[in-house]
Amino acid sequence: MTNTTEKTSAVATDTRSKKDYSNYFQSAYQPPSLKDAKKRGKEAVKVLTDFNIPENLVNIGVGKKFYIRTYGCQMNEHDTEVMAGILTEMGYTATVSVDDADLVLLNTCAIRENAENKVFGELGHLKTAKANNPNLLLGVCGCMSQEESVVNKILKTYQNVDMIFGTHNIHRLPQIIENALFSKEMVVEVWSKEGDIVENLPRVRKGNVKGWVNIMYGCDKFCTYCIVPYTRGKERSRRPEDIIEEVRHLARNGYKEVTLLGQNVNAYGKDFTDIQYGLGDLMDEIRKIDIPRIRFTTSHPRDFDDRLIEVLAHQGNIVEHIHLPVQHGNSDVLKLMARKYTRESYLELVAKIKAAIPDAALTSDIIVGFPNETDEQFEETISLVKEVEFDAAYTFIYSPRDGTPAAKMEDNVPLEVKKERLQRLNAVLNDISLKKNKAYIGKIVEVLVEGESRKNADVLTGHSGANKVVNFAGPKHLIGEIVKVRITDAKTWNLGGEWIEEKAEVAN
Ligand code: SAH
Ligand code: SF4
Ligand code: F3S
Repeated sequence: MTNTTEKTSAVATDTRSKKDYSNYFQSAYQPPSLKDAKKRGKEAVKVLTDFNIPENLVNIGVGKKFYIRTYGCQMNEHDTEVMAGILTEMGYTATVSVDDADLVLLNTCAIRENAENKVFGELGHLKTAKANNPNLLLGVCGCMSQEESVVNKILKTYQNVDMIFGTHNIHRLPQIIENALFSKEMVVEVWSKEGDIVENLPRVRKGNVKGWVNIMYGCDKFCTYCIVPYTRGKERSRRPEDIIEEVRHLARNGYKEVTLLGQNVNAYGKDFTDIQYGLGDLMDEIRKIDIPRIRFTTSHPRDFDDRLIEVLAHQGNIVEHIHLPVQHGNSDVLKLMARKYTRESYLELVAKIKAAIPDAALTSDIIVGFPNETDEQFEETISLVKEVEFDAAYTFIYSPRDGTPAAKMEDNVPLEVKKERLQRLNAVLNDISLKKNKAYIGKIVEVLVEGESRKNADVLTGHSGANKVVNFAGPKHLIGEIVKVRITDAKTWNLGGEWIEEKAEVAN
């Protein structure tokens, strides 16, 4: 992490008296409710630019270190960058070890039970760290904090936690820390209803080559198995000019790649009441910015429109990788999942994309063992995978999430059967990945060099536009650059190749 934040915020004066503070502590106990989180209001989303760190908190972290452990998706990774930005402005510095941290935050994920179990395991381990250092401040934030069952469990079992806050009030981190420092009780401040968009939050980005840019927050799709619409609130799009400015800022600062983020980026702009402006329009403007690579994730097949395909077909700096989660290959299961497309319409969309972008690499997320999934239905997932020929896919065993509609359906596929299906699916996917990767042999791809390979320091590693991991031997100064590599070797998970040194042109 670099230790400079991207902006310096204005400093406000905190004029509350001691008495105000005591009320403040009492009102700070705000537990979450998934039931409230489900509601979708009609109110317009406001864009706020009034974030600042109260004067009395600006130096509260001087001489102290923070450590943030991040679970879950890129949205969480990026939230961690924002929290790191806020903490840096409060005087804290980052550390890579829990042992010398004064503040530890667990930025959690609620997507599946095993994601949650990891966090509870970590909270158990942290009991020792807290015993060794009673002044350690321990916070739980992220998607799990939005669930009342989790908050209740922490209150009951993990008294070592000092503060719990959610995904909608990250900008309140300074005040939450202040409360936790001065209160004897566990501070719980979770907003069930999403807040407005706060535009001027600081961030400390991880690295200076690849940057994440949120284009929207929340999700209104309510797939029946999924907790995200409850933990992240309603869909709220950032204004195009704010996004474009952030991408330009990264380009000016030498970033080579930007990934536009949202749970369902294809719904971008649908919540604007004053302009007709969608993801296609946004991508059409961003592709003209002088930055080598633009990625975007995650696409929902339902809202993937022709305008977007037309813009993506220009390629240029827009990469040829589309993550287009199908979740299942059977239309009845898709209906039960409320994905609102069918096997046939998904395949039609894939055909359109392949026709417009012949070298497109398609990847997916797939769930096995959804309630009542039969062998025949599962076979349709296998046949769809074979038909589309995904370059790769994340595969998951269905995990019931309390509060979601699917959790009320009987989770009746035995675990053994779920595991067998997962293995079979992965074997089919791996065969396809290997076949697709072998087709790259002899081709030249552009690789954004990210660093040394973990296994061998003499080997550099990076990603191609199609998001393939490419390993090759080359000098260290290539790290952070986009270089050409001729592919000579293909495995299931990565490609190997030779760096093609481009000689500088000599003027004569
Ligand atoms: N917004 C993205 C997905 C975000 S969650 C989309 O709609 O594609 C990432 C993936 O986790 C999902 O695509 C889905 O495959 C998986 N997932 C979500 N809820 C799950 C659950 N309850 N059990 C198992 N997998 C789940
Ligand atoms: Fe979850 Fe569906 Fe929203 Fe993706 S689109 S985050 S799977 S509800
Ligand atoms: Fe997990 Fe929340 Fe992302 S549940 S997948 S961290 S939006």
